[in-house]
Amino acid sequence: MKIPGHLAIIMDGNGRWAKKRGLPKILGHRSGIKTVDLITEECAKLGVKALTLYTFSSENWNRPKEEVNALMVLLRDNLIKYGKKLKKNNIRFNVIGKIVDLPDNLCSAIKEVQEDTVDNTGMILTLALNYGGRQEILEAVKAVSKEYSAFPEKIDSLQEKDFEKKLYTNDLPELDLMIRTSGEERISNFLLWQSAYTELYFTDIFWPDFNIDELKKAFKEYADRERRFGG
Ligand code: IPE
Ligand code: IPE
Ligand code: MG
Repeated sequence: MKIPGHLAIIMDGNGRWAKKRGLPKILGHRSGIKTVDLITEECAKLGVKALTLYTFSSENWNRPKEEVNALMVLLRDNLIKYGKKLKKNNIRFNVIGKIVDLPDNLCSAIKEVQEDTVDNTGMILTLALNYGGRQEILEAVKAVSKEYSAFPEKIDSLQEKDFEKKLYTNDLPELDLMIRTSGEERISNFLLWQSAYTELYFTDIFWPDFNIDELKKAFKEYADRERRFGG
């Protein structure tokens, strides 16, 4: 079966999963972390080169303060918990987004796991944290502007590949497949530049219920699609 080299997932539906069971929302998020562990391990096993997970968007700050705080604590605790496993499984840990605005103890946990797995040669696991696609493009525009301010005559020769180097994803491969769980069929500001020719796959399953069979179903559909890239 053809496996996507770079898979991105919009992990949605934690809240509705919990609501359906009469549980507090945070238990939906906690359950979603188990799915992250399961899917990360399976993707590495199947030969995915890069897995990018939408974990917290730049718009998610608009949620109730208690939920945001609980999410930050959950992320930090689980980074510490799963860091060793990533190292052992030869997975390189990476983060994209505006990291500086995250709580200090989460930033230091991120740094620790990044440093601990920097020599790993297997799959790259990227968490999109405080990530927004428009924000990423705007930051790249600013970086390019600064770089070219002394050479305005060169700006006309700027190529897509030069611009891409300024995106958070500059060391990641081309994005092949994007999965969104929970029945919503939108991008929600995720990887806007990178998804130009990405195959999109939507499933009604809530993220905590997503599993290896569902992943394989998505890969099967991806393998059956014809990608034309406008050609
Ligand atoms: C996705 O689940 C996780 C985050 C955005 C952090 P949601 O919390 O959006 O779940 P629903 O969409 O309310 O069901
Ligand atoms: C997208 O889900 C963000 C993450 C999964 C981290 P949301 O639940 O925030 O998106 P909308 O509000 O349904 O578009
Ligand atoms: Mg949601």
